Amino acid sequence: MKVLITGAGGMVGTALRELCEASGDTVFAYDRGNLDITNAEDVWRRVDNAKPDAVINCAAWTDVDGCEADEKRAFAVNAHGPENLARASREMNATFVTISTDYVFDGTKEGFYTEEDEPNPLSVYGRAKFEGEQRSQETNNTSIVVRTGFIFGRGGKNFLSTIIERARRRESIKAIVDSYGTPTYARDLSQRLRELAELKRGGVFHVTNSGDGASYMEFAREAIKCADLGEPPIEEVLTESLKRPAPRPQNSRLGSILGLAPLPNWRHSVQKFALEI
Ligand SMILES: NC(=O)c1ccc[n+]([C@@H]2O[C@H](COP(=O)([O-])OP(=O)(O)OC[C@H]3O[C@@H](n4cnc5c(N)ncnc54)[C@H](OP(=O)(O)O)[C@@H]3O)[C@@H](O)[C@H]2O)c1
Repeated sequence: MKVLITGAGGMVGTALRELCEASGDTVFAYDRGNLDITNAEDVWRRVDNAKPDAVINCAAWTDVDGCEADEKRAFAVNAHGPENLARASREMNATFVTISTDYVFDGTKEGFYTEEDEPNPLSVYGRAKFEGEQRSQETNNTSIVVRTGFIFGRGGKNFLSTIIERARRRESIKAIVDSYGTPTYARDLSQRLRELAELKRGGVFHVTNSGDGASYMEFAREAIKCADLGEPPIEEVLTESLKRPAPRPQNSRLGSILGLAPLPNWRHSVQKFALEI
């Protein structure tokens, strides 16, 4: 395939780029410095020049608390950015894939959210990402929207890398015990993003590693165990005690009813990640 990747400097963008290159694809990978997805003209020019089979959007403003303080930027990047890409992809006849988030849900459901559940985002980030889903689909009815959550991988800032670094340096570690999600390895997610781009089946898909899901605490403990870092003390904290500006869903575990082959169990992928780093 000829694949254009946006947000190529981020965690998922990095993994996807490596996967596509290893798969023999022709890859046009742009980080924010090379393509700002809020600039519709530049988006158009890049897609027109590359004439890709697929455009996969890994760009987003992922600072959830930052979004809460700057709604304008949050919507520009996370809602209008995907729309710009969806439009250019439609005009160039390229398959469009964009990544969304478990934070489109309010967290009140018991169990796993499926593609049939109604989003009800709590934060500016969640609302902007949900609007990004809708704008992508309205602009281009073949858009593929992939919701995921609790991503771990190399590059970018993420919970698991921070935990492992702190454990290695013997620094204090805090982890939330009362928030649950479905961990997702950036490499496994990238595999699925590429498969969906090849399948060209539009719609909303929930993509995470399989397994029961986890609290941040369980997620942290598994990573420390896999990285063979002994048993550093981890302070249990409650979400409420952190007083963060943006509200988060307490349960954002995702499940799928669309019959795609399950990705590996997240514990297995945490093990692969520990070896990777
Ligand atoms: N991380 C998670 O746990 C998680 C959970 C659910 C969903 N997601 C979604 O997964 C996708 C990938 O996230 P990630 O974890 O890989 O995040 P990330 O590491 O923060 O990567 C996002 C990339 O997008 C870039 N970017 C920001 N604004 C941009 C713009 N206007 N134009 C072009 N690029 C821009 C960022 O560049 P700078 O760093 O230079 O700003 C960054 O390199 C996003 O859609 C995110 O919403 C992530």
